[in-house]
Amino acid sequence: MSRLIVVSNRVATPTETKGSAGGLAVGVFGALKEKGGVWFGWSGDVVSETVANAGPTLEQDGNVTFATVGLTRKDYDQYYRGFSNATLWPVFHYRNDLACYERIEYAGYRRVNAWLAHRLMKLLKPDDDIWVHDYHLLPFAEALRAEGVTNRIGFFLHIPFPAPQILINIPPHEELVKSLCCYDLVGFQTTSDQTAFHDYITRHAHGKVDQDNRVEAFGRTLRTGVYRIGIFPDEIAEQAKRYESRQHVLELKQSLEGRKLIMSVDRLDYSKGLVERFRAFEHLLERSPEWRGNVTLVQIAPPTRSDVVTYQQIRQELEYEAGRINGKYSGLDYTPIRYLNQRYDRWKLMSLFRESQVGFVTPLHDGMNLVAKEYVAAQNPDDPGVLVLSTFAGAAAELTAALLVNPHDSAGVCEALQRALSMPLDERRSRHETNMDALRRNDLGVWRDSFLHDLQAVPASRSRT
Ligand code: G6P
Repeated sequence: MSRLIVVSNRVATPTETKGSAGGLAVGVFGALKEKGGVWFGWSGDVVSETVANAGPTLEQDGNVTFATVGLTRKDYDQYYRGFSNATLWPVFHYRNDLACYERIEYAGYRRVNAWLAHRLMKLLKPDDDIWVHDYHLLPFAEALRAEGVTNRIGFFLHIPFPAPQILINIPPHEELVKSLCCYDLVGFQTTSDQTAFHDYITRHAHGKVDQDNRVEAFGRTLRTGVYRIGIFPDEIAEQAKRYESRQHVLELKQSLEGRKLIMSVDRLDYSKGLVERFRAFEHLLERSPEWRGNVTLVQIAPPTRSDVVTYQQIRQELEYEAGRINGKYSGLDYTPIRYLNQRYDRWKLMSLFRESQVGFVTPLHDGMNLVAKEYVAAQNPDDPGVLVLSTFAGAAAELTAALLVNPHDSAGVCEALQRALSMPLDERRSRHETNMDALRRNDLGVWRDSFLHDLQAVPASRSRT
C-alpha cells in the first residue's frame, strides 16, 4: 500500500492530534495512521536562514513522521503575511477592497513553495500519494514536478474559489490557475467553488471541462471534485455531554441568571461577518424590548494574523461596536455582549455550545465553517439549541434545517434570532434530527476517504509534464 504524504501550511503536533486539535487535524491524522506516512509543513516558527535550511525537524509517532521547517522573517512576510493572507485570502473571500498586491510578495510566495517542495524531496518515496492543503500552496505541485516528481498529487482548497471576474483582480491569476493544473485532482468544498474554477478554465484559459469533471488546460489533464469537509458528530456529542457539568459551564450558567444564551465562536477575521452580527443583535434589542436584559450574546473571537493591517482594522471596529452596543443596552447587572478575544479548548467550546439556546454563525463567505457543524453535534437531542446560519457558509448546503439568513439583512437576521429564541421544543428536535442525519451521512471520514479514493484512481507514475 502506498504511503500518504500530507502537506499543509500548519502541521498539528503529535500531542494535538490526540485531543486538542480541530476535527480536520484528527481526520487527516487518522488517514496518516492508516497508511503510514509524513505530515509536512511550517513549524509556525520564524527562524534564521541557517536553522531554516537545516530542516525539516522530524518527530515520529508510530508510523507517522511529523516533518516541519521554520521560515525566515523575509519568507514569513512575503509568503504567509503577504501574498497568502493579504492577497489570496481577501480575494478568495470576495473582498477585493481589502486586498493588496505586491510583486515582491508574490515572488516570495513562489520561492517559498519551491523551497518547501525541495525540503520535502528527501522524505519522498516513488509510490507515495501526496495530498496538499489550502491556498498557501497553490504552486506546490508545480514545484514538485520541476524537481522531477511523478507521484499522484492531490490538492484540497479549504476556502471558497472565487468567480473568475473576482479572481482576475489578482494580477498573476493565470499563473496561479496554471499551477493548480499541475495537480492530478483538485477538490473543492462546494459545487459553486468547483463551477467557478471550471468557468475560469473555459472562459479565461481556453481549456475544456467534460461531464466527468475532467479538465484539460495548459497542456495538462486533471480531475476536479466536490468533497464537503465534515466532523465526527457522535464523538462531538459525546464530548459535549461529558463536559457539561464542568466548572466553566456551571459558572457561565450561574452568571446568566436564567437569561437565554446565544453563542458564537470564530477566528477574528473580516470574512466572519462579526460586525454585521453585532449589529443584527443590536437590532433585536432595539426592536424587541422584551429581550433586553433577557438574552446574552457570548462572542469568542481569538485574534489571528494580527500583523496584517486589515485584521488590526477589524479588531478595532469590533471593539468599537461591542463597546457602543453594551454602552447603550447594559444595566447594572446586565451586559448584552460578552466579547472575548481568547482561545478556548475545543472540549470547553462544545460544552458551552450545549448550554446555549442559539448558535449564531453568520460569515459573509466561508469555505465550509465547521463551527456550524460542531454546534449542531454538541446539542442535547432532548432539548437542542437552534442554529442561525449564513447562506454564504459552505455548511448551509447540508444544514438545511438551520434557520438560514443573509448576514447583510440585519432585519432578517433579527427575525431569525427571535424565531430561534422562541422555537417550540418539537420543532427544535425535528430540525436537530434532520441536521444530525446530514452530518452523519457525510462525516469527516467520508470526506477524507472519498478524496483519497479519487486520488488513487489517477493512473500511477504516468509521465507528467
Ligand atoms: C483557515 C484556513 C487554514 C488556516 C486557518 C488558520 O481555516 O483555511 O488553512 O490554517 O484558517 O489560519 P492561520 O493563518 O492562523 O493558519
